Amino acid sequence: MRVLLVGGAGYIGSHVALRLSERGFVPVIYDNFSTGHRRFVDQFEVIQGEMADCECLRHALKNIDAVIHFAAKAYVGESILKPREYYTTNMTDALTLLNATVDAGIRKFIFSSSCAVYGVPEQLPIRETTPRIPINPYGQTKAAFEDALRSYSAAYGLRFVALRYFNAAGADESGTLGEMRSTETHLIPLVLKAALRRSQQVNIFGNDYTTPDGTCIRDYIHVNDLASAHVSALELLFNEGESDVFNLGTGVGFSVLEVIAAAEKVSSLRVPRAILPRRTGDPPILVCDGEHARRKLHWSPQRGLIEILRTAWKWQIANQADDLLSTPLRQSSAQHRP
Ligand code: UFG
Repeated sequence: MRVLLVGGAGYIGSHVALRLSERGFVPVIYDNFSTGHRRFVDQFEVIQGEMADCECLRHALKNIDAVIHFAAKAYVGESILKPREYYTTNMTDALTLLNATVDAGIRKFIFSSSCAVYGVPEQLPIRETTPRIPINPYGQTKAAFEDALRSYSAAYGLRFVALRYFNAAGADESGTLGEMRSTETHLIPLVLKAALRRSQQVNIFGNDYTTPDGTCIRDYIHVNDLASAHVSALELLFNEGESDVFNLGTGVGFSVLEVIAAAEKVSSLRVPRAILPRRTGDPPILVCDGEHARRKLHWSPQRGLIEILRTAWKWQIANQADDLLSTPLRQSSAQHRP
């Protein structure tokens, strides 16, 4: 079975490609390499193309049995400042992909959605039935594309799975794939960079939330657990399963301070930190109820926070040189090392 991974050279897509190939699927990578990395997908068939390019898509979708759509802009803060870019990529271009998929006669589609669709949930843990009330353009585009999938499913017989990721983190155990962004905003890589003195400190955005230690709580899910959920979702679609939506998280939340403490344990280094004001739009607690995925997808995460940090740490150590190249303005580390 040939599966087109749109945005497949990115952090999550590349891990999924590896797991799919291990399970006997043939991943075909479609990426414009704006943020993806060629070396993450060297071993696979790769097509360089834009999601907005109908002709290129038409060609890429020949002999494809299913599509997984990862390609999206995914920074909450940026989405508030540049909604046009978010609506264009995450809606307009994504609909071009969806239309091309349906036109090619393909009826299996997996979508990378996000816990951002829930906004600030009133109930915890978050179920798939918890009302979707996104509070930023990023979450709004994810919710809107889910709606498009529902309509296409009803009208055109498309079968889809929308996977609502919680906080993806960690790296492949091989040390060959991991988080590599020109601008990093995610907590775990920033904490590890601070441990390595690749930055001065990690900034803690608020310690006055109504949580036990005052810092925000998130549900961190290992990227390879996310990857295996995609394999399960694909198997569900190939076994004639119905369209569905799943939360993907562990059901266990960790505060920012708990993540920092765990990172110190894993790295055996102190993580310098500073308390800053709250970051706009951060819900205090996001933790998922994974029961639906357990029951219907027969999937449950196998790795916890320590495994996430252990693999992310291995990746950070292995890629220090690349990191220096991609962020030349950052403080160099050597002279500051403890
Ligand atoms: N945080 C810090 N300092 C940092 C970075 C993050 O204190 O330098 C805190 C944030 O305030 C948050 C937690 O660490 O409480 C996690 O932040 P991330 O930026 O790593 O991740 P988010 O929880 O903001 O983002 C996640 C997903 C998004 C999704 C969003 C929904 O990555 O895709 O949740 O709120 F949209």
